[in-house]
Amino acid sequence: MNHVSARGRGRRTPARLRAALVSIASGVVAVGTTVALASSASAGTTLGAAAAETGRYFGTAVAVNKLSDSVYVGILNREFNMVTAENEMKWDATEPNQNQFNYTSGDRLVSHAQANGMRVRGHALAWHQQQPGWAQNMSGTALRNAMLNHVTQVATHYRGKIYAWDVVNEAFADGGSGGRRDSNLQRTGNDWIEAAFRAARAADPGAKLCYNDYNTDGQNAKSNGVYAMVQDFKARGVPIDCVGFQSHFNSQSPVPSDYQANLQRFVNLGVEVQITELDIEGSGSSQADSYSRVVRACLAISRCTGITVWGIRDTDSWRASGTPLLFDGNGNKKAAYTSTLNALNAGGTTVPPTTPPPTTTPPPTTTPPPTTTPPPTTTPPPTTTPPAGDGDCTASVSLNSWPGGFVATVRVTAGPAGLNGWVVNLTLPSGATVTNAWSAQTTGSSGDVSFRNVSYNSTVGAGASTEFGFQGTGNGPTGTATCARA
Ligand code: G3I
Repeated sequence: MNHVSARGRGRRTPARLRAALVSIASGVVAVGTTVALASSASAGTTLGAAAAETGRYFGTAVAVNKLSDSVYVGILNREFNMVTAENEMKWDATEPNQNQFNYTSGDRLVSHAQANGMRVRGHALAWHQQQPGWAQNMSGTALRNAMLNHVTQVATHYRGKIYAWDVVNEAFADGGSGGRRDSNLQRTGNDWIEAAFRAARAADPGAKLCYNDYNTDGQNAKSNGVYAMVQDFKARGVPIDCVGFQSHFNSQSPVPSDYQANLQRFVNLGVEVQITELDIEGSGSSQADSYSRVVRACLAISRCTGITVWGIRDTDSWRASGTPLLFDGNGNKKAAYTSTLNALNAGGTTVPPTTPPPTTTPPPTTTPPPTTTPPPTTTPPPTTTPPAGDGDCTASVSLNSWPGGFVATVRVTAGPAGLNGWVVNLTLPSGATVTNAWSAQTTGSSGDVSFRNVSYNSTVGAGASTEFGFQGTGNGPTGTATCARA
């Protein structure tokens, strides 16, 4: 079944067609493919809001010990709607002694994110670096089992709270081999990566599972190696949903000319792509131009679902001397910030509000590129029941279900007067429970549940849309979702 959404804010749409598009966005629960219209320019005033206009997120790496810095937190809460723990969810932090887990810092970040309507990218379950000393000294079956236990325990602890996990980080070698990097993990056997992905899927079926690496941003021997692995995983049903491109750039390693083409070839394998650790050393207009190139490349690809910068202010960066970020040391917006925001506001393809199924069925590897061309804006109005809301807004739910659980993505579309606060109500079937929500505050977790806007998505222009989502156990909602002004 197709779910057609109207999100072309600012487009001149004939009144009858507009009414029809609004009507189909109301109370329709759809499963499967989503056809989304490209967004047109509308001024998001923050990075997160501007990215959300096209269904994407804009995130940052966060160092939890900086959450007491008011300037840092002010920018974080204002600008970003996705966070990645810079170090706090890594193996050395979460399992300092074997089988003794410490989630204190990671949990602080998750709490901060949930309180502020942000989602969380988990980073990273298995990596040759930042291993605790006890693991560094292990090998063979003992290390393999310890790694799988780590993946299982950590992904289970954060089950339902993580949008996407970097399951395996930086496992390919630099240079021209295109092969795996030598490491204690690699020496446990070439199948260690797929074993980690299977363990992560079993522990948290709702999280997208990503492979993440650097120097894979253009087409080269290393990215060819990752490409072959993803192709093989998809063909054999190994659960992989996304590939992260770290995108650490400087004058020696600038944004590659084939950056977009490289992202697209991975999407064509049937995975999402995400820009996961973006930073670009430099200053002024050349840095600003490079940032806008990266943003434009992602926005040109409908399954490039979000961008994360690796820190907030230049002084927060792991490469502080290269001033690679969007805010200066005082928290002022740089030219790179403005070019990034402008590129986001220029729009692009819209991300389909679907999540990958947690099954291991391999999709065909010959799927054509899903959207480099926006679908036509004249989709014929299907016949559906009229909106059940009061005319202020409508809500449509896309559901991705599996035995025992579901992820719902809800699109809120404003009526002709626009919105400055909204609430969506729906009813879950008996036995279903909401375990996690993003970009909305939840009241109730079973039966009648309501979802209210958070600060960055309260304002929705006339005819425009915003999205939130939630994950649950049991069966997802099948009835009408209603939307009202809050
Ligand atoms: O917390 C200790 C502190 O107690 C101690 O006094 C100090 C002395 O060196 O070290 C502090 O830990 C440092 C930690 O960052 C927190 O600041 C580590 O030494 C340092 O090695 C660690 O660096 C991190 C690096 O990963 C380690 O590989 C960076 O913050 C982090 O930004 C960086 O992130 C990686 C991604 O995970 C993967 N991709 C590459 C990226 C950049 O290297």
